Amino acid sequence: MKTCIKNIREIVGIVPQGILRKQGAEMNETGTLSNAWLLIDADRIAAFGTMDRMPQDADEYLDAEGGLVMPSFCDSHTHIVYAGSREGEFLDKINGLSYEEIARRGGGILNSSDRLHETDEDELYRQSMQRVNEMIAKGSGAIEIKSGYGLRTEDELKMLRVIRRIRENSPALVRATFLGAHAIGRGYEHEQYVRLVCDEMIPQVAQEQLADFVDVFCDEGFFTVEDTDRILTAGAKYGLRPKIHANELAVSGGVQIGVQHKALSVDHLEKTTDNEIEALLGSDTMPTMLPGSSFFLGLPYGRAKEFITAGLGVALASDYNPGSSPSGDMRFVMAMGCIRMRLTTIQALNAVTLNSAYAMGVSDEVGSITVGKRANIIVTRPLANFTMIPYMYQTPFIKHIFLSGKSVCN
Ligand code: NIG
Ligand code: FE
Repeated sequence: MKTCIKNIREIVGIVPQGILRKQGAEMNETGTLSNAWLLIDADRIAAFGTMDRMPQDADEYLDAEGGLVMPSFCDSHTHIVYAGSREGEFLDKINGLSYEEIARRGGGILNSSDRLHETDEDELYRQSMQRVNEMIAKGSGAIEIKSGYGLRTEDELKMLRVIRRIRENSPALVRATFLGAHAIGRGYEHEQYVRLVCDEMIPQVAQEQLADFVDVFCDEGFFTVEDTDRILTAGAKYGLRPKIHANELAVSGGVQIGVQHKALSVDHLEKTTDNEIEALLGSDTMPTMLPGSSFFLGLPYGRAKEFITAGLGVALASDYNPGSSPSGDMRFVMAMGCIRMRLTTIQALNAVTLNSAYAMGVSDEVGSITVGKRANIIVTRPLANFTMIPYMYQTPFIKHIFLSGKSVCN
């Protein structure tokens, strides 16, 4: 089945084959083509060109009516498998409590862990799938999902099995991350819990092939650099590449230990110095910033601009979770990248597409308009130009969504 999208005002996000991420000055570039068509063949982007030479042999034609075509967003950091919600803590925050204070009172991650324990797998799947569908409707086509609200072996496995079901049933491209080291589970001593993660959880997760990546919340009050080193070493034995939480609450040493373990990404980075930039230069690790949690918790925004000036790439992701970022709206993430982190619109586009695809290990498959890649694309409503998307950040902009070449209702 060949579908030709015609009368596209502009295609944005065109990247030549073989480019898996953008760094430094490359962040300022994206390929564009005006007055264009794009051909989808089965699940792939087959070709694109200008309207004067449109293919005549497609099975169907879709008139974009002057809309833009862009790659679907890739959201490389989410915690969308959770039970219930935490609006009580939202009120606590309004009344002045910090994220750390709420956690110390037994709220936060442990609150979600209690709710998850009481919720069976089918109900957890139902609630989580609703969030996935909400994210798809907002333009995300690839989603990384973490465990980390189980905090005991059976419950971590339950979360990961739910992620596997989402992966099997959702049209989005899904990757799973094991985040047993998200907090110390109730009833465990710190050392005892780190051992549980290394010696029991990781082997079982690997045995059932439930995760692609391993994550640790390497930050003040949670897991130390030494814990992180041990957990990542244990994960590596089973081929689990790290993607870690680092430098959200403090300059934690998380970036350095992540780079040392060849992490695919180090995420959060609200608190960094030039030492973190230095550690990342020349590495294969994608610095990933999460402006949704800066917005929601009132934390500083990551220094994306300085990272790029230093020659690094930056990815942006939603961190969708019930405690620090209750939104999976990647268009809003892109807008915050522009408005609060002063990224140009093109830098922000690269950060939420190709680089975020890289940060979840799928940039050979999605994240750009590239012949041969999976046809995960957004056709916008008629728009004057791409800048309108982050600028008018609340105005509905999506007309059609294709995931793996199939039209998804919006
Ligand atoms: O990425 N920082 C640690 N973990 C999540 C928050 C999880 C929660 O509060 O439920 C985050 O912000
Ligand atoms: Fe997170």
